[in-house]
Amino acid sequence: MTSSASQVQPQLRFKEPIKNPKGFSALRRLEWILDPVTYLERTKADTPDFFVEDSLGFGTGPVVITSHPEAMQYILSRDRKTFSAPGEFNRILEPLIGSASVIMLSGDRHKERRQLITPAFHGERLEVYGQLICDLTQAVVAPLQPGEVFSVRHLTQQVSLQTISKVVFGLSDSPRSKEMMALLTKTVDSVGSPVAALILFFGGLQKDLGAWSPWGKVVRLRARLDELVYAEIRDRQAHPDPTRTDILSMLMAARTESGEALDEHELRDELMALLMAGHETTATAIAWAMYWIHHEPDVKAKLLAELDALQKEDGADATPTQISQLPYLSAVCQETLRRSPVAMFTFPRVAQESVTIEGHTFAPGTTFLGCIFLTHQREELYPDPKAFRPERFLENKFSPYEFIPFGNGARRCVGAALAQYELKLAIATLISHYKFRLADSKPELPKRRGVTLAPARGVPMIFEGKR
Ligand code: HEM
Repeated sequence: MTSSASQVQPQLRFKEPIKNPKGFSALRRLEWILDPVTYLERTKADTPDFFVEDSLGFGTGPVVITSHPEAMQYILSRDRKTFSAPGEFNRILEPLIGSASVIMLSGDRHKERRQLITPAFHGERLEVYGQLICDLTQAVVAPLQPGEVFSVRHLTQQVSLQTISKVVFGLSDSPRSKEMMALLTKTVDSVGSPVAALILFFGGLQKDLGAWSPWGKVVRLRARLDELVYAEIRDRQAHPDPTRTDILSMLMAARTESGEALDEHELRDELMALLMAGHETTATAIAWAMYWIHHEPDVKAKLLAELDALQKEDGADATPTQISQLPYLSAVCQETLRRSPVAMFTFPRVAQESVTIEGHTFAPGTTFLGCIFLTHQREELYPDPKAFRPERFLENKFSPYEFIPFGNGARRCVGAALAQYELKLAIATLISHYKFRLADSKPELPKRRGVTLAPARGVPMIFEGKR
């Protein structure tokens, strides 16, 4: 694949034969919002590898969508030079997370903010959270009674919300933090269902018609959340504690290259972005893993054998780091993120010059989206793609553009390491300490939840007690 300035075609945005999927553009957009899985699977049949969509509601205008791993590699490995990754195209999230967080920034400011927050989610810092994740998982299971039917998605949301709140604020049990967590859940739920999500995609629906109107609810929840976040920031400013290692403390101490501190508004937006991005997605991934493990008895048996063997080695409890390195557990988590990806797309990338990708020449300004969902369904990479088979990840090594649940390049998910660590530890804790079974044999299907995909029924399960 090559990039060539001599092939600029200002009149022709996309060289044929890249096509739109079949049907009317407005109806496709509605289908994409209300039933994204059917929409995506249909496009795969009509227009494999690449297709063009007039608008999916990201504020981008026409986009080229690709699930071709080499095309993804071409775009995402050059997205600070040949392509850009503009924050303004992520505006759909602005009502929830504001406009001054890493997700909305572009260029050098984006790079600088990433450098600031990324270390908090990696290496030694992660290990600090390991035991916390295991303890929180046990604490949320504790109130369950044997025989009780419960929603796994609801339970895992409590684990991920408390974890990220601890990472971001360094506290998880103050009254303020508890109220913040309850409000965050309500805010996300208020735009969660496919119909409610219409409000995110159609800006014209964002009208405050009183406390009971859909947007009115969001506005009021956000206002109260803001009060709490600002109160936390002001408390910290009034009582600085240099021993704190949470992200809020780190962001407050940080200075830009020109020596400026982040203002309250920037701090608030960054905290909200990390809280929102950091709990919804991970909760969904843990819930999917629980579903697949209990749907496939062989997988569960192999996983338990691996976890039990680790515990028996020296009689002592395994450490979170040891657990996170288990090969079968890792493969189960990877297969979960492949088979049931939480994010359908990467964020948009825009060509800064004419590019030729897989024989198609695209004019400067062309916007691209990488389709994670369809890449993970490619037969040539993942034979029998609907089957849940963790062994794929033990038998093969996939490139980071073939297995791409966290995107890649300039906007690769900053929480990817934390999310995978949390997924492994929560699953290991749930499976090795307790017994569960699926409440019924109905298949759990993916359904839109805000801008992500989540299990439609929330994975109803029966708690069977301690193991
Ligand atoms: C299973 C869990 C998760 C999944 C599947 C996921 C997926 C993604 C994807 C696909 C992207 C866009 C990448 C791209 O455009 O190349 C992204 C970006 C991002 N994610 Fe995650 N994510 C998860 C968990 C988290 C967590 C735990 C955090 C918390 C810190 C987080 C914070 C972010 C942020 C801040 C960005 C924007 C990065 C930027 O704009 O530079 N995510 N994530």
